[in-house]
Amino acid sequence: MVGWTEKYRPRKLDDVIGNKKAKDELRQWAESWLSGIPKFRAVVLIGDPGVGKTTCAHALAKELGWQVVEMNASDHRNADAIKRIATHGAMGETFTDDGEFRDSASGQRKLIILDEADNVFGREDYGGIKAISTTITGAQQPIVLIVNDYYELKRRSSTIAQNTKSIKFSKPHKQSINKLLKMIAKAEGLSVADSALDFITERSMGDVRSAINDLQALAEGRTEIKEEDVIALGKRDTSQTVFNSLAVIFRTGNCKRSREAVFDLDEDPETLILWIDENIPIAYKDAADIAAAYDALAKADVFMGRVRRRQYYGLWGYASDMMSCGVSLAKSRSYSGFVNYAFPGWLRKMSASKGYRSTMSSFAAKLGSHTNKSSKVVLQEYLPYFRTLYTQDREFRLNMTRRLGLTEEEVGFLLGQKPDSAKVRRVFDDLRKVEAVGKTPGTEDKAQADEDAGTEEEASADEGSLKEDGDRPEVASEEPEAEPDVQSSLFQFE
Ligand SMILES: Nc1ncnc2c1ncn2[C@@H]1O[C@H](COP(=O)(O)OP(=O)(O)OP(=O)(O)O)[C@@H](O)[C@H]1O
Ligand SMILES: [Mg+2]
Repeated sequence: MVGWTEKYRPRKLDDVIGNKKAKDELRQWAESWLSGIPKFRAVVLIGDPGVGKTTCAHALAKELGWQVVEMNASDHRNADAIKRIATHGAMGETFTDDGEFRDSASGQRKLIILDEADNVFGREDYGGIKAISTTITGAQQPIVLIVNDYYELKRRSSTIAQNTKSIKFSKPHKQSINKLLKMIAKAEGLSVADSALDFITERSMGDVRSAINDLQALAEGRTEIKEEDVIALGKRDTSQTVFNSLAVIFRTGNCKRSREAVFDLDEDPETLILWIDENIPIAYKDAADIAAAYDALAKADVFMGRVRRRQYYGLWGYASDMMSCGVSLAKSRSYSGFVNYAFPGWLRKMSASKGYRSTMSSFAAKLGSHTNKSSKVVLQEYLPYFRTLYTQDREFRLNMTRRLGLTEEEVGFLLGQKPDSAKVRRVFDDLRKVEAVGKTPGTEDKAQADEDAGTEEEASADEGSLKEDGDRPEVASEEPEAEPDVQSSLFQFE
């Protein structure tokens, strides 16, 4: 099946939505080549993913009848080839790439496109930057560099920055994206409810590529997209965004971009590490790159272990950086082309065996749905406080266990105990007793219970609490009390 983004990729600059100023600047620059070598031999197109940079570069060449020579900027084996073509006088060219003869009058210019040039600028160890920089200064042919991160380019090579005209691409307006989607839907004989279309547009956040991809995903097996169908899109959201983030991590050589891809992701680091783990050998091909990527991941895992053991969530940032930036920079060359990322097998197994990670995710989902926050926010911002309150305040503990419908695994996770430990059992016994007397948890044996549910991490704590079990006072009270107002506002849901 043809991807709609390719099928509907504009062939003409005028069909590229938004970015009028950028298109004008691009045209002007191209025209400056018609009367000799201009001041700027190269332009650099800057902008977020999926806004039309690559599309515009190709459409420009088509508009002017120029041939395109597309180079992978990060492959330093190409540096010589780039240089040879770029520094070769245009009008002397008498043969096209296909061997077709052209007289000198119709000898074509070649537009050299160095796409994803970030891959070069993000790296320290390449002669690539230098090669590009000398190529630009001596170019006899127009060159288009494409980057996501101009700041990085400037930082890495002031020569390139000074000798190129920068053209900024911004995210097209929502109305334009909406119109484009309508046009595609029409061409595909698809009827789409306006509200569904708005939802897709909204969700794309200016990334035209992802908007078109969403539309295509929703259209699969349908001729009509109704408002309720977009709910499915919402559900697909997580894996969709994970795939997007993986693509950035594995494809970019730019640390900042990679880090941002993880930062924006609504997925906790514990889960993300599994995704990356599973997909390193799929995304990278060279053994050395794979090894280096796993090395970065192992470092991330060390930080995660400290987070787990010490509940020190501040370290999550380091873990995240190792996973994103560390894995991105582990490669010695770029890998392009479509990659079919795999769902982590381990995650599947873990959720079947109710392991730590899946318990954490299920808890986060429960608290998240009550607080109307994402799992990521819950885990990063709420969990530490929640856990403190949960272990120290009996009323809070019993209330939350009941309200969130926590399982033994989840209670064990919060208390740092095994699900079948005495401490976990006691929480449920306690709750049952309280419910049996028809009242909500009160404060009668608060001090004792709080002690019981302490946060000792050692496994031996289990045995200790088993002994205590016998002489623990019963929770009993004849007089029903009103629901105690024990919660802090942070977790006050009702
Ligand atoms: N401004 C636009 N107008 C119409 N279609 C667009 C536009 N921007 C993106 N698209 C669609 O999205 C696809 C991807 O766009 P393109 O490759 O130009 O993005 P890009 O800016 O180069 O992104 P990246 O930084 O990820 O390489 C195109 O094939 C096209 O279908
Ligand atoms: Mg591109």
